[in-house]
Amino acid sequence: MLYPQSNRFRCSLPVDGFWSFQVDPEGVGEQEAWWNGLPAGRQIAVPGSWNELFPEHRDYLGDAWYVTEFDAFAPGPDSVLSLRFDSVNYSARVWLNGTEVGFHEGGHLPFEFNVSDLARDGRNRLAVLVNNDLRPDRVPPGNASDSPFSSMMSSFPPTSFDFFPYGGIQRPVWVSMLDAVHIVSAGVETGFDCNDDLTGYVNLRVEVAGAAAARLACQVLDAGGGMVAEGTCDVKDGTVECRFELPGVRLWSPADPHLYTVAMELRDDEGKARDAYRLETGVRTVEVRDSRILLNGEPIHLKGFGKHEDFPVHGRALNLPLIVKDGELFRWMGANSYRTSHYPYAEEALRYADRAGLLVIDEIPAVGLMFGDNGDRIAGWLEVCKGQLRDLIRRDLNHPSVIMWSVANEPMTADFMARFRGADANPAFVDAGTDFFVALVDAGKELDRSRPFSLAGVMGGPVEWLELCDAVMINRYWGWYRLGGQIEQARAGMEEELDALHERLAKPIIIAEFGADTIAGHHSEPAEMFSEEYQVDVLRMTLDVAAERPWIAGLHVWNFADFKTGQGVMRPASLNHKGVFTRERRPKMAAHFLRSRWREDAAA
Ligand code: GCU
Repeated sequence: MLYPQSNRFRCSLPVDGFWSFQVDPEGVGEQEAWWNGLPAGRQIAVPGSWNELFPEHRDYLGDAWYVTEFDAFAPGPDSVLSLRFDSVNYSARVWLNGTEVGFHEGGHLPFEFNVSDLARDGRNRLAVLVNNDLRPDRVPPGNASDSPFSSMMSSFPPTSFDFFPYGGIQRPVWVSMLDAVHIVSAGVETGFDCNDDLTGYVNLRVEVAGAAAARLACQVLDAGGGMVAEGTCDVKDGTVECRFELPGVRLWSPADPHLYTVAMELRDDEGKARDAYRLETGVRTVEVRDSRILLNGEPIHLKGFGKHEDFPVHGRALNLPLIVKDGELFRWMGANSYRTSHYPYAEEALRYADRAGLLVIDEIPAVGLMFGDNGDRIAGWLEVCKGQLRDLIRRDLNHPSVIMWSVANEPMTADFMARFRGADANPAFVDAGTDFFVALVDAGKELDRSRPFSLAGVMGGPVEWLELCDAVMINRYWGWYRLGGQIEQARAGMEEELDALHERLAKPIIIAEFGADTIAGHHSEPAEMFSEEYQVDVLRMTLDVAAERPWIAGLHVWNFADFKTGQGVMRPASLNHKGVFTRERRPKMAAHFLRSRWREDAAA
């Protein structure tokens, strides 16, 4: 799905701003009752989440009405009017001018509707019924009485994951006017041939609507606008594939995040120009080989964080200043990578990462999945996850910063607690997960073979699931959830486990989470858990263990910043305090430690 763009053929306008808002706890569901009855005074920000805007709705789960009006005009026979939502959490039912337009389930990924037949000249009224119920059959699941997470954390609201279940229209909403003959999607796969002058290539695949026969004229432009390749290709049955060679290519990398632009113009079968689109991308390759992750053929080491899209008042909503602030703090520390834990982040964050040269592991919202004798639920999750992975890959395929797909965070077997205490896993539960992830990764590889696939394995989770991954990602809390307060014993335990794991898997291993809850300003000598000193000790121990193991391809500290969770005995002030920054981005000692260590490593 193309990020909205305006030019002489297409116009995309955001419908953001202050919308009328009303929760609907009884689920009245009759939009007329709500449109006309909506109290004009109650407004909400779009993008935004309702939970931190209205005190009485902080924990609200259920239906909520959003209504706004916008100016448009009824498109003629040669035009199309579409409505695009970049993210609604969790589901959205949409009406335009009193007629239902459609329904979408799943947060964090865009969806759109063709509303050409419903749009009017002048004011148009848009109503959206948002729902953020926690349900066991959703992804991520919630309200699941059999969830190991729920029994461990006793979180309220009753999530099966460790972050707050914000609800709302959390990213921009767009109205787009397009020519009836237009570009629907464009995907690139890039690489290079190591001959004498390093020739790059861009394989472009474009889908077109409104014309069976057409032509696509393309130019590949360098950053300065100079044309480096061009070609015109025939559209057949609505699709076209072109390849462009780029002699003397400048590869994309963290050190040189060089971007090219593929400028496309679509001409109909009479040669008349009908649409145009400028697609930015970088030429680079990502491979897994000999227990290393290679970028452009060279081993890379990921230094960074697991994060959350989370900030006071915003909740989980697009926050452009925060994307810049976090990017600058990455630069300050010498960090080069993050995982979009535990859901796709706003595409604006990836556009920033492309330009900043950050390396991103892109994750679908599959957190809290549990595999036991719940076959029907597992089958339902698989269909949802396949759809989420499809939509994620289609949205993010062209971003050079995305180097790997993550299909789940900490999937568990139903007997997780017993396993964590050392019991053997039920093989049928392990097999249920294995079948699930084989099917999910296979579906992903149908859409993108240019990037590795992985999942973040929970401490004590099935190694069989890690074996399915191209590169291994594991969350490990040695010195916190295991051997807390006993750094040296934790070091020994981690070394033994990692060496055995690498011996068995012979793949690169990313420690995708490690860290310690830390109350900013709390100090102790000698170090003790929850102090800033102890957090540094855990991070230092882990970095030291990794420094002796070149097959540890990356370290992502959990977490970049403190973030909001539900209420529970394990989360004081309803925050996860494992950030190396506070929620407001004030550095703890650990941030200064990582800066000294990572910049020192970079200088080495
Ligand atoms: C898990 C999980 C995180 C969670 C973390 C923690 O590894 O992946 O979402 O926040 O543990 O307990 O802090």
